[in-house]
Amino acid sequence: MASITAADQDLSSINSYQPFEYDTGLKVLADSSNLKAVPSKFNYTNQPNALTSDSIPVIDFSALTDPDQRSKAIHDIARACQEWGFFILVNHGIPEELMNAVSKATKEFFDLPEGEKKQYEAKSASDPIKCGNFNVTTTSNQTFTLWRDYLKLYVHPEFHCPLKPKVLREVLLEYSERTRKLARELVEAVSETLELEKQYVDQVLKLHSSFQMFAANFYPPCPQPDQAIGIPPHTDPGLFTFLIHNGVAGLQIQHDGQWFNAESPRNSILVNVADQLEIFTNGRCKSVMHRAVVNSERERMSIVVANGPSSEAVVGPAAPLVKRDGRAFYRPMKYEEYVVSQLTKSRLDGKPILEQMKIHDD
Ligand code: OGA
Ligand code: NI
Repeated sequence: MASITAADQDLSSINSYQPFEYDTGLKVLADSSNLKAVPSKFNYTNQPNALTSDSIPVIDFSALTDPDQRSKAIHDIARACQEWGFFILVNHGIPEELMNAVSKATKEFFDLPEGEKKQYEAKSASDPIKCGNFNVTTTSNQTFTLWRDYLKLYVHPEFHCPLKPKVLREVLLEYSERTRKLARELVEAVSETLELEKQYVDQVLKLHSSFQMFAANFYPPCPQPDQAIGIPPHTDPGLFTFLIHNGVAGLQIQHDGQWFNAESPRNSILVNVADQLEIFTNGRCKSVMHRAVVNSERERMSIVVANGPSSEAVVGPAAPLVKRDGRAFYRPMKYEEYVVSQLTKSRLDGKPILEQMKIHDD
């Protein structure tokens, strides 16, 4: 195979995920050995540097419930979704104690003995509880293991959670419920600016039975951060993804062809537009390309909630927008199929699934 340059890699994105056979988690490797170099299976030549910008949008959620500020707040959210596909959400109403409790319980899961976690090793992409590490094949045809251990759970409409640590179930139930409500209010805000009928949105996206995934990512310190990656460039499935972390930066987003550090104030939530919101808004909102880089000093943990439509919803561009735009820019697909394709599809034409959904002029 021809060697792949860093530039090639940065242009490419994840094409398929293959659950890696669960020998031991990366955490064990990083804890037990005095690693000086990245083992070759993790090799991914990378340019982790990114810019810092103070123009990344910050949205004050409390303004949405203030009648004097609502219309400006809605407008600001829509603009953030269109220009960056990303914003920092403050005053969101989710108690800091709850976010801390979720982080603590999740960390306790990663700290469980390997034997305990092994029962949840991924056997198929559709397992509602899975953990381990991942092999990824990028569109430039490179396979490598991510510098990350993960735990992934389906939490709505059915709630799935490991039995240990015991406290996880209770805190996660509450966190998933509150984040679902928040996601729904954001979707409604965007719909309002686009003058879509509430009933129409509810009917098409079926948000009362929204498919919600919880993912926790654990990134041990990495001896050579430019030789490995936490998660390579990708977009997320769903409408809005919410991310919180343990205070160690590592999320980077792409904007105007440049990488930016997504730094966040304490207690804020990092929100990104995901694929189905781009499709539903016929391209108005941008599903932002992002990645997680690693560092040599501190372990990092992120807690991610992917808020989707219902798995039964067939998501295509909203009919009133297609009418306004004169045509649909994306094909419709049932959300369940979309998620499965993203997780399992072997290389079709080598493009990420969102690209495959686009209808081009020709
Ligand atoms: C993800 C993701 C980024 C991070 O889990 O989809 O993009 O910073 N995570 O952990
Ligand atoms: Ni992501």
